[in-house]
Amino acid sequence: MSTQKQREPESQEPSDGETTPTPQERRLERKESDRAVREEAADESDLEEETVLLKVFRYDPEVADKQEPRFDEFHVPFEKGMTVLDAVIYARDTYDPSLTFRHSCRQAVCGSDAFFVNGKQRLACKTQISELDQPVRVEPLPHQEVIKDLVVDMDHFYDQMHAVEPYFQSEELPDDELEEQRQSRENREKIKMSSRCIWCAACMSSCNIAAGDNQYLGPAAINKAYKFAMDDREEAELTEHRLRIIEQEHGVWRCQTQFSCTEVCPKDIPLTEHIQELKREAVKKNLKFW
Ligand code: SF4
Ligand code: FES
Repeated sequence: MSTQKQREPESQEPSDGETTPTPQERRLERKESDRAVREEAADESDLEEETVLLKVFRYDPEVADKQEPRFDEFHVPFEKGMTVLDAVIYARDTYDPSLTFRHSCRQAVCGSDAFFVNGKQRLACKTQISELDQPVRVEPLPHQEVIKDLVVDMDHFYDQMHAVEPYFQSEELPDDELEEQRQSRENREKIKMSSRCIWCAACMSSCNIAAGDNQYLGPAAINKAYKFAMDDREEAELTEHRLRIIEQEHGVWRCQTQFSCTEVCPKDIPLTEHIQELKREAVKKNLKFW
């Protein structure tokens, strides 16, 4: 059952008085319209009376007959509003308690349940079953070492995040220790999207460059560096220090603007644009005028 419909053609030149949407606004509009089309298709379907067929990746190096990776099938009764996470929880609780995966908040906040669902990195608790073609294939994030079933080793991802020093470091503290260190409204607006990251690693898993270069900082870490490098409250020397980290050999210059990270980010962070902006800042920092 396909839920795809023809997309409306892109709008042409704006008429007088209209502002041109930014690439990020166009991407969000497209995501929103795709979502609406899928929801409409789901409403028209009779999925409510069906079961969902899940094909879930299984692997356990510690159990003899599970050392060879395979897919297990589970038939899960569909309920309106069911997410991929709901479905795998049902499969585990009903059929096989050894089915292993991470999850916690169930509301797209903790970032622990990014899986590869029907060939795309998605947050399981944010992905509606009704939006997917069947069978629903659930795999661990590609390009990460699998520990067991859907659980991948996140150590390398966390190492890359920590390499950009992801914390506020300004030395100019307010006189009164109870006083807030205020940020201008404009500056807050600039870094707003970058601060939405939930450390799910979907972007890193989707990135071809990260797959081929184990030392590449990756989109999430560079986005984190962007958040602090663009924060006006940090001193100029600190910003320079941050730019030096991201302009290293395995930093921003490795990005080939493929937009795969931006496409899969469940928090809609314009990752590729942030990486491009940091490239411009790094060039500006190194320009000399005589
Ligand atoms: S940038 Fe987006 S995809 Fe990458 S770790 Fe953060 S929330 Fe996940
Ligand atoms: S369970 Fe926390 S983000 Fe999905």
